[in-house]
Amino acid sequence: MKHFTLCTGRKMPALGLGTSRIEHEKIEPAIMTALDAGYRHIDTAAIYKNELPIGAALQKGLKQYPRPDLWITSKLWCDAHKPDDVMTALKDSLYKLQLDYLDLYLMHFPVALRPGTGWPTQHEDYYTLEEVPLSETWEAMEHCVKKGLVRDIGTSNFSTVKLHDLAETARIQPAVNQIEMHPYQQQHLQRDYAKRHHILLTAYSPLGSSVDTMQQADGTKLPPLLTHPVINEIAEEHDATAAQVLLAWLMAIEVAVIPRSSSPERIQENFKATSLALTPLNIATIAELHAKAKIFNAAGFTEYDSPYSLESIWDGELYT
Ligand SMILES: NC(=O)c1ccc[n+]([C@@H]2O[C@H](COP(=O)([O-])OP(=O)(O)OC[C@H]3O[C@@H](n4cnc5c(N)ncnc54)[C@H](OP(=O)(O)O)[C@@H]3O)[C@@H](O)[C@H]2O)c1
Repeated sequence: MKHFTLCTGRKMPALGLGTSRIEHEKIEPAIMTALDAGYRHIDTAAIYKNELPIGAALQKGLKQYPRPDLWITSKLWCDAHKPDDVMTALKDSLYKLQLDYLDLYLMHFPVALRPGTGWPTQHEDYYTLEEVPLSETWEAMEHCVKKGLVRDIGTSNFSTVKLHDLAETARIQPAVNQIEMHPYQQQHLQRDYAKRHHILLTAYSPLGSSVDTMQQADGTKLPPLLTHPVINEIAEEHDATAAQVLLAWLMAIEVAVIPRSSSPERIQENFKATSLALTPLNIATIAELHAKAKIFNAAGFTEYDSPYSLESIWDGELYT
């Protein structure tokens, strides 16, 4: 298995299984297929509401695969950003996952919500970042590391501006920033920042998620990445699949990937991307596909007279 070394020295498997929106009855077969295929990294989050079935599946997996060989990531939902709530939320995830510790715990979004809020549905669901500063949530996450409940901590959906601000007060620097990344969203600014600050980027939606059409900011339609002619030509050259090319490209530019699938064949297919070596020309060709297209823009946090806007969440970095 290919690994990336974090700033803390720990090695994170470069490819993991994404689990959002996998139907609960398909979770155990998906995780067992993944482990048997060679995956050692599972990505979940409190908001996916699947930590219980993942915990049950891991109990089965742990009979064959020792805990130290596995890498389990979960994420703090925005309704538990108040410092007193952070450890309780982490302990709830650990309880559901039936684990003593997480390998990686991420702050899911730079947005704070009132306890019990999933996605906001009314103005009262929001806290402002003045009321619950990200630096204080982070400090509580650092405390969880000290308590041995999590080995590494990081962020998700943080702009480089927010990473920079966090670094000013953090005693433990974020090891990972998990963000949307694929050939249409190449994250040049994040890659430059991550390299300079030794942060590992993890790409979510590396296959373009399950959307049928991709759209640029100006409304221009783009072909779904899995059917893109350039990606498929490169796949043919290597006797590989489009999904394998998309994943291999990200790993080649030093980005970890967490593709989701509930199909045993596709879970196995995606793992084989770890041994696909693209040429420098392939990598340069894919670099030309960058577009102003994003699948997740977090607009769900900007409604109901929200104190958050796309500008305040992304700091002008939505399409970089
Ligand atoms: N931090 C965040 O805010 C955030 C946001 C979004 C996602 N995530 C994480 O990232 C993971 C991946 O992102 P995602 O779920 O949005 O999308 P994705 O992994 O880019 O795409 C998943 C879709 O691709 C299909 N697929 C998988 N392998 C395939 C293959 N080899 N050939 C053809 N189709 C294939 C899947 O269908 P089948 O199941 O039918 O194979 C599914 O419809 C999530 O599961 C989650 O863990 C994090």
